[in-house]
Amino acid sequence: MIDSRIAAVMNFVSEKSRVVDVGADHGWLSIELVKSLRAVKVIATEKNLKPFAAAQKNISAAGLENLIEIRLGDGLKVLSPGDVDTICIAGMGGALIAKILSDAPDVVHSAERLILQPMNAAEKIRAWTARNGWKIADEDLAEDAGIIYEIICAEKNPSEKIFKRSSSPLEKKFLAQRLKKLQRILNEMSKSSAARESEKFFATLAEIESLRKKIPACAGKNFSTV
Ligand SMILES: C[S@@+](CC[C@H](N)C(=O)[O-])C[C@H]1O[C@@H](n2cnc3c(N)ncnc32)[C@H](O)[C@@H]1O
Repeated sequence: MIDSRIAAVMNFVSEKSRVVDVGADHGWLSIELVKSLRAVKVIATEKNLKPFAAAQKNISAAGLENLIEIRLGDGLKVLSPGDVDTICIAGMGGALIAKILSDAPDVVHSAERLILQPMNAAEKIRAWTARNGWKIADEDLAEDAGIIYEIICAEKNPSEKIFKRSSSPLEKKFLAQRLKKLQRILNEMSKSSAARESEKFFATLAEIESLRKKIPACAGKNFSTV
């Protein structure tokens, strides 16, 4: 049940952490975190009843009800400050992840590490971290069924930047996929005069230019995303 995307999220969880798995869905991440001993305690949160029931069933089938507590509710609002030291939010859009973090400032402030895996708009997470006093401590990429996912690990005061991602063989492929996607978006926007004058058009153009510069350099060993 654990694919490479979830495995890459898990890799950023330090041993013996107290973790919240926001949007736990089927509960596989929560279950694996406990089974692998990375987490000594997990709070799994789910907003929707169907996945909540599925997670409850899987957690109970694994006999882990005493180590994984599942709470029905919106994001981190069902937690109190100090409940966890690590916040994992995986498999949602970057804007929703940023909103979930912004909606519970005290819980976020009391945590030590954020592990965020956006399905899109990773730039919204980078902007959120910069605005809210968090720094990106490391990043990684994971490929599953041909799609490359970004995993961002943020801390308030990271001791060192490791950048697993810079040595990932997936980096070059990820940038090439991103460039292709942005070129498609730009082509679509070019068809409308209003879109051609929009902020998004110029931002997309700028990112394309920056990616074009980075792509040949990706082959270099010390390529960094910052
Ligand atoms: C696509 S699934 C991702 C599941 C899992 N985290 C993963 O990475 O495989 C997103 C899950 O988040 C839940 N969800 C969406 N918004 C949420 C919120 N604000 N609070 C808690 N759960 C939420 C959805 O019900 C769904 O089960």
